[in-house]
Amino acid sequence: MINVPKGTKDILPQDSFKWQFVEQKARETAKLFGASEIRTPTFEHTEVFLRGVGETTDIVNKEMYTFLDKGGRSITLKPEGTAGIARAFVENGLSNSALPAKFFYLTPCFRYERPQAGRLREFHQFGVEFLGSHSADIDAETILLAKTFLDKVGIKGVTLYINSIGCKVCRKNYEDALKKYLLDNYDNLCPLCRDRLEKNPLRILDCKNDECKKITDGAPKIIDYICDDCSNHLDKVKTYLDIAGVEYKINPNIVRGLDYYTRTVFEFVSENIGAQGTVCGGGRYDGLIAQLGGTDTPGIGFAVGIERILLLLENTGVQIENTNKVKVYFAPMGEKESEKAFELVNELRANGISADFDHMGRGIKSQFKYADKIGAEFVAVIGSNELSLGEVKVKKMIDGSENTVKFTDFCDFIKKA
Ligand code: HAM
Repeated sequence: MINVPKGTKDILPQDSFKWQFVEQKARETAKLFGASEIRTPTFEHTEVFLRGVGETTDIVNKEMYTFLDKGGRSITLKPEGTAGIARAFVENGLSNSALPAKFFYLTPCFRYERPQAGRLREFHQFGVEFLGSHSADIDAETILLAKTFLDKVGIKGVTLYINSIGCKVCRKNYEDALKKYLLDNYDNLCPLCRDRLEKNPLRILDCKNDECKKITDGAPKIIDYICDDCSNHLDKVKTYLDIAGVEYKINPNIVRGLDYYTRTVFEFVSENIGAQGTVCGGGRYDGLIAQLGGTDTPGIGFAVGIERILLLLENTGVQIENTNKVKVYFAPMGEKESEKAFELVNELRANGISADFDHMGRGIKSQFKYADKIGAEFVAVIGSNELSLGEVKVKKMIDGSENTVKFTDFCDFIKKA
């Protein structure tokens, strides 16, 4: 037997309806906020992520699925959605279109990580990218969209953390102060963080190592170093969130794992799904489009991990209704009865009602068992007696109530049932 590769999963029919539910809520919410779907390729030239996500990030350093294609080009399966969309924005000249451009996407992503609950090598994101506005109100809009989506899906018990990681100018001052502080504690940092100290000291702030955590607890806070413009920006974001009634906590340790962020960063975190508690992460990335060779255009967005959403729903006992079930299952008792059932099934389907009939030549008992397994709402029995009388005996499975209905009235009966 050949198994799926480590860190990937089959999504079987017993679960796919849950995915459809979450995806439908994503589409519904995005539409409410005026966002349109964008689809970019599953793989890009590696350069997109080197320049976009950043060469000092864990994603680029350790987690990308990168290979040479048969033409010798370095190709990478997308580890996230933002960089590819920024590339598409530049390549298609979208900075000349109506701004802000509001995109949403549902996409598989690939990261070579150590799999655990809520962490896979192939996972799926619902994300949003708003490009073209510097205004703080669009930051709040982005956060509100994420919150609205989580509410619609039925997610409870997540905390929204926000922070500002400043702009190019004030970040430098902060990084200097942080480096100085961390150098004083160098010996107690984990080897990875010692390495990060020169390349990307901000990353040390979200190291999960206990010793590093102790050190970073006492580190200077970025929020005390940001310039007046960045500070005013954060205040405005807070004002808009307050107007929308969105609760949040300022958390100076939210720095995010990707290099493109500027100013506002945020995460929705749950205590209910173990170590991988961040269900949604996002922020502003005012330099990304220019970084990829486009006209300087600000942007902000987020991505939600769909596997984590489903895990959270499961762990908090939220039930999702399977709306894919067949409404009427026909149990014919012979050849002629089967032909009649086929005719009625087709009539129902033509009227938009899902229907099916026995293809296995089973006896009546097993047909009822099968109908129960597939969750059919009604079982319609056609035996020789019913056939000669031109009737169907129909049983409503939930309460066992039975009716006898003329073939000619059957579709109307089901429509009203
Ligand atoms: P991210 O924080 O790397 O941000 O990922 C966003 C979300 O994807 C996470 O909060 C998590 O729910 C999910 N996720 C990440 N890695 C995995 C994994 N290995 N297995 C399962 N789920 C995972 C980004 O990707 C940014 N592009 C978000 C963004 C959009 N920022 C601005 N615009």
